Amino acid sequence: MLRRSFLAGLAAASLAAASPAAAQETVKIGLIIPLTGPFTTTGKQLEAAVRLYMQQNGTTVAGKKIELLIRDDAGRAENTARIASELLTNDKVSFLAGFGLTPLAMATAPIATNAKVPMVVMMAGTSIITERSPYIVRTSFTLGQSAVIVADWAAQNKIKKVVTMVTDYAPGHDAENSFADQFTKQGGTVAEKIRVPIQNPDFAPFLQRVLDAKPDALYVFTPSGVGSILMKQFVERGLDKSGIRLIGPGDITDDDILNGFGDAAIGVITGHNYSTAHPSAKNKEYVAAFRKANNNMRPNFASVGGYDGIHLIYEALKKTNGNTDGDALLAAMKGMKWESPRGPISIDPETRDIIQTIYMRKVEKVNGELYNVEFASFPDVKDPVKAAKK
Ligand code: DHB
Repeated sequence: MLRRSFLAGLAAASLAAASPAAAQETVKIGLIIPLTGPFTTTGKQLEAAVRLYMQQNGTTVAGKKIELLIRDDAGRAENTARIASELLTNDKVSFLAGFGLTPLAMATAPIATNAKVPMVVMMAGTSIITERSPYIVRTSFTLGQSAVIVADWAAQNKIKKVVTMVTDYAPGHDAENSFADQFTKQGGTVAEKIRVPIQNPDFAPFLQRVLDAKPDALYVFTPSGVGSILMKQFVERGLDKSGIRLIGPGDITDDDILNGFGDAAIGVITGHNYSTAHPSAKNKEYVAAFRKANNNMRPNFASVGGYDGIHLIYEALKKTNGNTDGDALLAAMKGMKWESPRGPISIDPETRDIIQTIYMRKVEKVNGELYNVEFASFPDVKDPVKAAKK
């Protein structure tokens, strides 16, 4: 009797001594991003931002060593889901992060739910994503957030008739619907709704239809990186001289590539959550450090999704004292507020989606370079699609 309880006590003591030291010293974060394929620029921006944050803030949080595992999904959903499962099963990651496109986030949502592991969406922008798993938190944006603000701006600025043209997948549909709903409510007319395939985007044939429809403005959504093709074809088809204004979410005047667009882009009006030219002290510091660490590359809106996503992970771990239980981490993330390079942001405790300022901007030449210069700001914008469901 005595001997048995002595042995049991010994076993319990050695377990207690061995397990926390061995198993909990390192916290692993799986960052799944497109580093090859058509959306490589998104992956590069996310990786650069996460690395910069870790350089600036160290790799020990709440006494735990942070290890970043970066994996390339090439922008293909079947890869993202497989990699997420491998990271959970083989590497025992405590966080899944990244998600450069909506389909990649959608494919991974059920995997995060099963594993009860936080999934930080740093780029994808379709409203419904956060509803696909209680473990999803978003630090990017939703397309509706800017679409509603741009629609109001258009209605207040003598734009009466608009044609919309969006990349034909979920975030494009969100942009089209949110813009059209709000613009129509404000008395405007959407004359035509054009959807362009996501593969090998060619806007030229659609732009001819836009010329024929003679709207006051063309509202366009393309995912990050595709704006340069749009702008080139917009000019080739003579739309820049037609009096038809180009407007949209800031994805079309992506800071990463905007400076290569040429002067035809001057005057393009967009609404968005981040501009490299955002004039806060925090952003000036961010842009300088990012450019220095990345061969002078400009940080774009994907980058702040990554920078804030890793910040959210660090702060959640601090709040849980290094506890990696998924439910504890989610509770820590809900309602968190901080100053991002883009301005003040928070995580809506009810929806786990981001609340942020949306800025109206105009492309201008500043010191010989093209920038999205902010001229109006709208604080604390929630995803309007989810707000309408209440
Ligand atoms: C998505 C991707 C983008 O590159 C972008 O600019 C906006 C949305 C997406 O797939 O959700």
